[in-house]
Amino acid sequence: VAIYRQDYRPPDWLVPEVTLDFDLSADRTRVLSTLKVVRNGQHDRPLQLAGDELKPVSVHVDGSQARWALHNDNLVIELSGNEGTIETEVELSPAANSKLMGLYASGGILCTQCESEGFRRITFHPDRPDVLSRYRVRMSADKTSFPILLANGNLVETGEGEDGTHWALWDDPFPKPSYLFALVAGDLGANRDIFTTMSGRKVELAIWVRENDLPRTRHAMDSLKAAMRWDEEVYGREYDLDLFNIVAVDDFNFGAMENKGLNIFNSRYVLADQDTATDADFDNIAGVVAHEYFHNWSGDRVTCRDWFQLSLKEGFTVFRDQSFSADMGSEAVKRIDDVRLLRAAQFPEDGGPLAHPVRPESYIEITNFYTATVYNKGAEVIRMMRTILGADSFRKGSDLYFDRHDGQAATCEDFVTAMEDASGIDLSQFRLWYSQAGTPKVTAHMIHDAATGVATLKLAQHVPDTPGHSGKQPMVLPLKTALIGADSGAQLGDERLILLDREEVEVEFEGVGEPPLLSINRDFSAPVLLQSERRAGELETLAASDPNPFARYEAGQELMLRALIAGARGEVIDSSPVIEAMRGTLMSNALDPAFKGEALTMPTEAMIGDRMEIVDPDAIHASRDALRRAVGAALTALLSEAQAAGAAGSDLSPHAKGVRRLKSVALALLTAGDPGRGAELAKMQFDAADNMTDRQGALMVLASLDAPEREAAFGAFYERYRADTLVLDKWFALQAASQRPDTMSVVEKLAAHRDFTLKNPNRWRALVANFAANQWAFHDASGRGYRFVTDMILAVDRLNPQVAARQVPVLGRWRRFEPQRAELMRAQLERIVATPGLSKDVFEQASKSLV
Ligand code: ARG
Ligand code: ZN
Repeated sequence: VAIYRQDYRPPDWLVPEVTLDFDLSADRTRVLSTLKVVRNGQHDRPLQLAGDELKPVSVHVDGSQARWALHNDNLVIELSGNEGTIETEVELSPAANSKLMGLYASGGILCTQCESEGFRRITFHPDRPDVLSRYRVRMSADKTSFPILLANGNLVETGEGEDGTHWALWDDPFPKPSYLFALVAGDLGANRDIFTTMSGRKVELAIWVRENDLPRTRHAMDSLKAAMRWDEEVYGREYDLDLFNIVAVDDFNFGAMENKGLNIFNSRYVLADQDTATDADFDNIAGVVAHEYFHNWSGDRVTCRDWFQLSLKEGFTVFRDQSFSADMGSEAVKRIDDVRLLRAAQFPEDGGPLAHPVRPESYIEITNFYTATVYNKGAEVIRMMRTILGADSFRKGSDLYFDRHDGQAATCEDFVTAMEDASGIDLSQFRLWYSQAGTPKVTAHMIHDAATGVATLKLAQHVPDTPGHSGKQPMVLPLKTALIGADSGAQLGDERLILLDREEVEVEFEGVGEPPLLSINRDFSAPVLLQSERRAGELETLAASDPNPFARYEAGQELMLRALIAGARGEVIDSSPVIEAMRGTLMSNALDPAFKGEALTMPTEAMIGDRMEIVDPDAIHASRDALRRAVGAALTALLSEAQAAGAAGSDLSPHAKGVRRLKSVALALLTAGDPGRGAELAKMQFDAADNMTDRQGALMVLASLDAPEREAAFGAFYERYRADTLVLDKWFALQAASQRPDTMSVVEKLAAHRDFTLKNPNRWRALVANFAANQWAFHDASGRGYRFVTDMILAVDRLNPQVAARQVPVLGRWRRFEPQRAELMRAQLERIVATPGLSKDVFEQASKSLV
């Protein structure tokens, strides 16, 4: 059954107070809940409390046995008065909860995940984000197995019980929706610290992990403190409780969760040291820790009215964490990474059968809408508002938004209105970004009149049709633009912000004395697909001299894409423009190594395919391989120099990270030119590494080689790290991403490996998601890859539908592939839909992908 945004109605009943009493154990947990309920408005509808796989042991209303009924898992109670006290008792088995939603067990720790609709797996409750309650939570458990008892808010009291039990009483003074409820019980140690807020309050910070993992929590703690300070300085937001707890668990469906005062994390976004985590891991940890912390304001203090508004908190919070990371490191490199992710994950979604607006109109299973569109395109929408309003007005707008809606459940509309009210800028047309799906296409064409010195830029936009929505209106596209002199290579005049808000717009630049080159959509100021006519040599000059680092990077990527696409079409290509651009990058004294690493990274095979009408994975693979070989052979000396450079593993400065990044990018290109020498160098890099970045970079290169060094390195890696779950995930992932012809067989064997399990989402994704992202291997013409991934989806669906459903969209892209593969992919989707007992999560994704 689909749910529609238009059908929103305020709740029939409010729940101002929730009191919970947990008697915890892994196999049998008793939950006693007391809800104060109040009729909301004038109506005579019964109280409906959502449940999911719950069986009531008892139900009381105002202390007596009540009349109740269960309708599809929901508890329905007729109440005569306008308020009442509802007591329910249920029993759960956390150990048997394989969906990892609600209360579950992970490696002996009991923990919760409630967003979006997991609270109803713990107790009966309206479980919708616009019902806010004050929570008081009592937990009791065996003292030896569960010495630590945590919940939201402040610790009020603790005590000893009978039979070796103990208890804790927690109180959260901030009213919150049920999806922000959390508790944790387990044998955990804490890395503790103190943060003094801008108004001088002291907050006790703690990161809770297994005792053995404590040495790996330092970076997460540093990141947390940096994020707390940043939110004060940049958004004026101060933390509001006396405690802030983070807990890491190994089994977790996504990255992390912003429960009030008690964030729960996938351990991969907490634990790091130089021996086990790459620089990218360190950066991701900082980003996710900040993201969840920032939710305390953009999510917890101001929450969402309904799940259609998800981007209100997620788009905004992603934008906030992106800005934080940019401020902590290199702004240009962070932007390049974020745009790469947007193109890799969101553009295909926007162009496929599962396309939906940033604020969706309907869903069957809300969990399927935690997408790159809601998160990452949502962040782009916020970024564009900031670009249009300017930093100062944007900050006034966010202040107004937080003040106006503190303690409320708000909508995307409320956010835009606050921005309008604070800035005086009309955003009516801009709102189309929330309702129109699809990546806008922009074409640019420039003519220069040498006699008058006027350059005329003609811009046009088109918003493509998406399932269920055609004939779209033109949107507001903010395009940061400058002209670069073709002769001088210098910027001509100031950068301009062009608002392309009609189907066609013409812009004039005066005083243009030399032929101009177009530097447009700088910093990727609008998330669009740009097609610009380029004169011969234009991209080459921009790639060498555009003063905007992002635009410079873009020109280089565009140059590569042209060659790669031509190659995939079977044309004979001239690789020298790409080689010369790369030579210029490597030799530059002005560019930092991190930027060089980005600029030398070729578009992935998937991205090349995305820019072609029909995807032929073999042709794309061959084309990319050929260009890499040519580059590697032509630039051996410069690449060797970059590969030989290094930085101490303990040095986590942006510069050191850049040196390491460039080192492994150079190794990979070198190896493409000369695999024999590459194997030797990779083995040396692997053996000499004092950090995981260099080690993994070398192993990634070896993974795709047919050389004895490969087996030796993978064997050594396994022996060294077999007991470390997070590192073992890398061992699986690297083999699944291999570019060898036997990858499919290797992956099938790994699925039967003793360390593989369907129960741990990280492990499952390490193998399956990485293999499915390996375009050449997954799209093998035999269809074996499609069958394998489908088998894995169906197997994990029986345990954990959310993990299964996330993998369906790769098959849903079938229309883009050449006919034989398209048919094979489609057949697997048909097979999924025909499977008895399918979850509604997977059903929604697969059935929508077939239409
Ligand atoms: N709110 C969490 C975060 O982004 C993610 C929760 C994901 N929940 C889900 N049902 N997919 O920080
Ligand atoms: Zn979030």
